[in-house]
Amino acid sequence: MSEVHVHKVQPAWRERALIDNETYQKWYAESVADPERFWAEHGKRIDWFKPYGKVKNTTFDAPVSIKWFEDGELNVSHNCIDRHLATRGDHVAIIWEGDDPAEDRKITYRELHEQVCRLANVLKKHGVRRGDRVTIYMPMIPEAAYAMLACTRVGAVHSVVFGGFSPDSLAGRIVDAESTFVITADEGLRGGKAIPLKENTDKAVDIAARHHVMVKNVLVVRRTGGRIGWADGRDLWYHEETAAVSADNEPERMNAEDPLFILYTSGSTGKPKGVLHTSGGYLVYASMTHQYVFDYHDGDIYWCTADVGWVTGHSYILYGPLANGATTLMFEGVPNYPSVSRFWEVVDKHKVNIFYTAPTAIRALMGAGDAPVKNTSRRSLRVLGSVGEPINPEAWEWYFNVVGDGNVPIVDTWWQTETGGILITPLPGATDLKAGSATRPFFGVQPQLVDNEGKVLEGATDGNLCIVDSWPGQMRTVYGDHERFVQTYFSTYKGKYFTGDGCRRDADGYYWITGRVDDVINVSGHRMGTAEVESALVSHPKVSEAAVVGYPHDIKGQGIYCYVTLMAGEQGSDELRKELVAHVRKEIGAIASPDKLQFAPGLPKTRSGKIMRRILRKIAEDDFGALGDTSTLADPAVVDDLVTNRQNKK
Ligand code: PRX
Repeated sequence: MSEVHVHKVQPAWRERALIDNETYQKWYAESVADPERFWAEHGKRIDWFKPYGKVKNTTFDAPVSIKWFEDGELNVSHNCIDRHLATRGDHVAIIWEGDDPAEDRKITYRELHEQVCRLANVLKKHGVRRGDRVTIYMPMIPEAAYAMLACTRVGAVHSVVFGGFSPDSLAGRIVDAESTFVITADEGLRGGKAIPLKENTDKAVDIAARHHVMVKNVLVVRRTGGRIGWADGRDLWYHEETAAVSADNEPERMNAEDPLFILYTSGSTGKPKGVLHTSGGYLVYASMTHQYVFDYHDGDIYWCTADVGWVTGHSYILYGPLANGATTLMFEGVPNYPSVSRFWEVVDKHKVNIFYTAPTAIRALMGAGDAPVKNTSRRSLRVLGSVGEPINPEAWEWYFNVVGDGNVPIVDTWWQTETGGILITPLPGATDLKAGSATRPFFGVQPQLVDNEGKVLEGATDGNLCIVDSWPGQMRTVYGDHERFVQTYFSTYKGKYFTGDGCRRDADGYYWITGRVDDVINVSGHRMGTAEVESALVSHPKVSEAAVVGYPHDIKGQGIYCYVTLMAGEQGSDELRKELVAHVRKEIGAIASPDKLQFAPGLPKTRSGKIMRRILRKIAEDDFGALGDTSTLADPAVVDDLVTNRQNKK
């Protein structure tokens, strides 16, 4: 490995910072020596209607059970809104920046309160009660935030589905959650293009009905005014409904362990899982990480560029920042519209202090050169963040030197949908930085590296990343399938939470995430199960078998490489290739578009019929010299054939 350049904490970062290195060391030691005491103290950072007596009641051994602050009572929307009204009712809670640079809005905490109360009353009026599941399929507009917060206010459990998912994917999530109330918009708008959200919802509701889940109401925000279909009695206009109810609403008293939201995420097998997070621990963890990781100070303008359809949007656009009374920027658009300077123009326009984005965006913008960055000021920036996938050192250095002009710290934050909040990360005033390393664990987080047999590895080493004890933001179960939760996360290495990631620890104890070690791929920071893409492919009538692997991609981090075996008598062609790509997009959504598709007369299998993905990965990576032992294959000639075909394509 090339030598790692260390970027020391600069004096200006330390002066401003909430946490310096001594404090980090001290708090960290306390947090793992006596978690009970540490979290009893930090749990107080949010408002409790009834204070907790018990703090931690968790076990990773069978029967796996995770409870935090279990006898406390709170309401999440009260914490994100009401408790700020007395001190900062007129401060801006949400800055909304439209897809079109001429469109923006500022929503104060008082306005947010009114909007969320009204929507909570609409939900109640239509029979949504505590514990009911509400599906939210929305563009990045303030109403998406109102919808999530209104659910938490009435105690309903939201399931946000990213607007880029297809009707089939949306339907699968509605059915799994048995959700009978959906909130959407007529159309979304991104990069000047309309996205037919209501039309997709109509299709999804029909598909769900065929699976015996009857959606009772669809509440529709008018975003573009585009033409849409309408089902009388079922469909409701958001603006009409919210105008007709009171602007007052008492938040429900919820137990700390009452479900807050479900968020579907991909694993190595089967359908996406409904990751379930609960109320108290999640909010404590999201708000605490937001404050310390981003070194958030009162009055800072904070911008996370994620979509609310992903966990990053949940924890770090909405819940963390609002629980802290922050001003959070919500951006409807994309980094390259109308130009590749857009991010930096928005930073200047709203004087953004903290900016949090994904490596795929950084790499894409880096490709456009320095000029579109350099012709903006960016002087307001104090902290830069990265999330979603490993950031390569070149992109890190560009982000640091060009975007941050060499004087803004970068926090490379490692975490997962399952973890609820950031687990491994630098703290701006405490941690010397190394380009490409997520550095050190957050308070209360105990990482461990193990080999494939589960043997614990010490010191500088490479291994599989586990976490050995619970933290408050951890997921509690897979919705409706606790056994799957236990199997997926706690059975590979008994008594430990297994992350699915590979990781290196260096001599300074810094962690370097190397990527997934299971059959999950990370495409532009979007997590995808190769099994899902395979099942979409084989649902096409001309496909008999498919194997999907990731391969290194300059911008996306990983690209999707598909090997497809056709039904007897079918011929591979460019046309069929296009048809199959379109088919996958229709089945899952545009985010699952295959990048490369190779027709393969046969796939390398062991004699027991198991597909040897290791070999397919190597071929996709053009690493033909390292195919390893192919002698155990049922038909070793298949591999030569694949390699020849791959090479011919180049
Ligand atoms: O492989 C890791 C990668 O993203 C996975 C989690 O994906 P998801 O649940 O969609 O959540 C993404 C946003 C939190 C992880 O298992 N990952 C996430 N952040 C990083 C990362 N890999 C390396 N460095 C990161 N900072």
